Amino acid sequence: GMIGQVLGGGKKERQLADLLNIDHCLIVSGNSDSEPRVLDSFGDMVTETLDKILPAGDNVIAVMGGTTMAKVAEQMRPLEKSDRHNLFVPARGGIGESVSIQANSISALMAENSGGDFRALYVPEQVSPETYRPLLQEPSVQKVLALIEQSNCVIHSIGNAMRMAERRGMSQEELSMLRLNNAVAESFGYFFDDQGEVVYKIPRIGLQLKDLKRIPYIIAVAGGKSKAAAIRAYIKHAPKQTWLITDEGAANQILKEA
Ligand code: G3H
Repeated sequence: GMIGQVLGGGKKERQLADLLNIDHCLIVSGNSDSEPRVLDSFGDMVTETLDKILPAGDNVIAVMGGTTMAKVAEQMRPLEKSDRHNLFVPARGGIGESVSIQANSISALMAENSGGDFRALYVPEQVSPETYRPLLQEPSVQKVLALIEQSNCVIHSIGNAMRMAERRGMSQEELSMLRLNNAVAESFGYFFDDQGEVVYKIPRIGLQLKDLKRIPYIIAVAGGKSKAAAIRAYIKHAPKQTWLITDEGAANQILKEA
């Protein structure tokens, strides 16, 4: 079929949602591993989904980083309903990514492209706890942390564990520990093995995995056949209300392995 075509309301979407035990899956045609244009459709799907699910009034949308999220942000369009004020914030402090794929940059771009506002979280990367702790007392940092705590929507991706660990410059010791523990997935700074068990966590401030339960609107965006195992592993932690936006590359592989 056409690349990036949305297979709305399909049987396969229902099948995948049931298998993963979440409420909603949206599957875009194609495989983003080999067809980069598929990623553009993820942006359209996120825009449409936000338009459909966000309630009227004030919304605080916490967003994570990564290349998928950066592409989604680039592709986002103004939301249609004007009875809402949407404030985008980074979901967690930096976890060692380059600037354009950091949550701060992504929340700014999402706000700009969708017609909302944003607040940045300025907490540097590799600093000692002695430097880090007093920063958390800064009023400007506390304000954003309070907003993250109040967020009613989260948009995030799911990464391949080893790919993420290497990209973020984790140490040789950490890399071998992750390998030894069969880490396959990463999300929110948590690493998961193929059974979905948490095997490691990068200590950072902001949203934690356990906070997701109380958040009514959650959108997870991840595609490509190469991410099938990562999606399966992470999704065991995803609350029921999660919307998974993915592609046929990942969906077919997950359904095949089931
Ligand atoms: O936490 C998940 C990763 O940020 C996903 O990154 O979209 O570049 O694969 P990616």
